Amino acid sequence: MKRLLLLIMILFTCGCTNNAYVYSNIDDNIFCNVKVNNSNREIINLLKQEKYFICNNLEKYLDYSILNTEDISTIVKEVNVGLYRDYYKDVVESDLSKDYLVLVNKYYYLKDNYVPNDLENISTDCSVGINSYLRHEARLEFEKLCQDAKKDDINIYNLSAYRSYEKQNKIYNNKVKTKDVALIDSVSARPGHSEHQTGLTVDINLLSKQFDKTNEYYWMINNSYKYGFILRYPMDKEKLTGYDYEPWHYRYVGRDVALAIHSEDITFDEYYAYYIDNN
Ligand code: DAL
Ligand code: ZN
Repeated sequence: MKRLLLLIMILFTCGCTNNAYVYSNIDDNIFCNVKVNNSNREIINLLKQEKYFICNNLEKYLDYSILNTEDISTIVKEVNVGLYRDYYKDVVESDLSKDYLVLVNKYYYLKDNYVPNDLENISTDCSVGINSYLRHEARLEFEKLCQDAKKDDINIYNLSAYRSYEKQNKIYNNKVKTKDVALIDSVSARPGHSEHQTGLTVDINLLSKQFDKTNEYYWMINNSYKYGFILRYPMDKEKLTGYDYEPWHYRYVGRDVALAIHSEDITFDEYYAYYIDNN
């Protein structure tokens, strides 16, 4: 009986919820270090019910919601991936200790001298062209994926995997010579900001949006996560990833994380903010 009473007392005093956080009680007038008052109480109550709510971001959600009229879920997602900041400003060096989960995007960059130390050549059965290197585990999994796809009469092959800083510099700068920077920024990463420099990314089969009309595309959507790969720049997630839809660009994150991203239908940027950076 004493134990039961103690348990009830603990539950009441800690304000436990089924979210990953132990919130301070909102009636205490301080919630996630933000003062709660009549003007923000309602929105805070809505925000804290969001699955991807991050306590440390509360002030940013509130500021962002003043300037942006989107629904609460969208505000949480956009703030989590950093959209309250301008692209390529206040950039942060990518955390290489995250290994296969390193994040590289318009806010996170790799140094010009970063070259992964375990790059391996993808077997010629599964690759064409010259940029055919992937990091060890990604290479093994990509070859497994490619061989298993062949059993279903599906031909998956690499067109462009690892690209050095210098290579990306040439690609990007050649493109901006002829076209508007904003347009190029939506399809091509600036040097240091391309995932291709991680050695964990592979462009497959056809660098065209028409690729999503093919059986190979459907096979990848239904199976790639089983080998640890995710579609990195999906359709309708352009604002969150910062890039146009690229049905051909796959990123290796390992099987467990790929399964989670596939099941939750989120981008890697969102996954990183909530599950990696937030812990
Ligand atoms: N096309 C992708 C975004 C890259 O340049 O890395
Ligand atoms: Zn790519």
